[in-house]
Amino acid sequence: MEEKIQALREDAVEAAGEAGTLQAIEDVRVRFLGRRSELTRLRKGIGSLPAEERPTVGKLLTDLQGDITTALETRTVAIREEERRRAIEAERLDISLPGRRRALGGYHPITQTKIRMCEIFRGLGFEEVEGPEVETEYYNFDALNTPSHHPARDMHDTFYITDSVLLRTHTSPMQIRYMEQRQPPIRIVVPGRVYRRDADVSHSPMFHQLEGLLVDRDVRFSDLKGVLAVFAREMFGADTRVRFRPSYFPFTEPSAEVDITCIFCDGDGCRVCKRTGWIEVLGAGAVDPEVFRAVGYDPEEYTGFAFGMGIDRATMLRCRINNIRILFENDMRFLTQF
Ligand code: DAH
Repeated sequence: MEEKIQALREDAVEAAGEAGTLQAIEDVRVRFLGRRSELTRLRKGIGSLPAEERPTVGKLLTDLQGDITTALETRTVAIREEERRRAIEAERLDISLPGRRRALGGYHPITQTKIRMCEIFRGLGFEEVEGPEVETEYYNFDALNTPSHHPARDMHDTFYITDSVLLRTHTSPMQIRYMEQRQPPIRIVVPGRVYRRDADVSHSPMFHQLEGLLVDRDVRFSDLKGVLAVFAREMFGADTRVRFRPSYFPFTEPSAEVDITCIFCDGDGCRVCKRTGWIEVLGAGAVDPEVFRAVGYDPEEYTGFAFGMGIDRATMLRCRINNIRILFENDMRFLTQF
């Protein structure tokens, strides 16, 4: 009997030791301690033993049960520990790995150009203001001394909303709106979107301009030249020179188109400047007396100058692209380069 019990102990302890999972432990428990186990069977048989053997066998069986239970518990603890270790291993975090960078947004190249332009003019004492993109014919044309037969008023160029309401074709109407509200001295720049019915590699139906206006007593054409020369050097590089060519705008007299030395060939002549060494960047002039009359200023008392430049054109130069559409396609491969 004793040997049998000892053999049972060894079997059970070995089985418990080999159990690899909690389920296997449970199987071993059922097998050795369950209702249909050998142990249970032996216990039931105690009654039929001679009376003097019963206490000894009873004790042996109780010890056996204790040993099996202990073996199972020991193994259970080991399995739990092993599972915990594996879970920790699986969740392990390598804090020395570089973090995942969040992609930050940035300014669009056109906005960058606008910011830079306004910054330069702010340094020269100009205040930045904005005006409406939906304008009246009066502000966009009439008050700017643009008579109704002027080609700029042709349906071909202008998006009309009604007979007298339109999408502004330039930022110049803000000259009128601002002067109507203020008295000189005036020094403003007006960045903003403008619209024209025009679309090819260098024209977009929506584009951006920066308007400038300075009005005071004794303003001369040389002041305009000085301001634009400083601007060109700040914007396009210290060696940049400017050139004024006579031109015509209804709202300035005299008027000029202003070129800068080509930033690609330094004026030697290349494909971008069509071998001329110069690139046109803006229109400008002395404010026409008719414009002053439209806002109630006395042209005998005040003089001034105005200019208007393309922000997109300047951006194309800066980004070295020859197709304006790239600026409006929002292709991240292009945008993230600037
Ligand atoms: N408004 C003109 C245009 O869109 C540009 C311009 C030229 C603005 C001369 C001015 C100026 O203020 O003086 O073509």
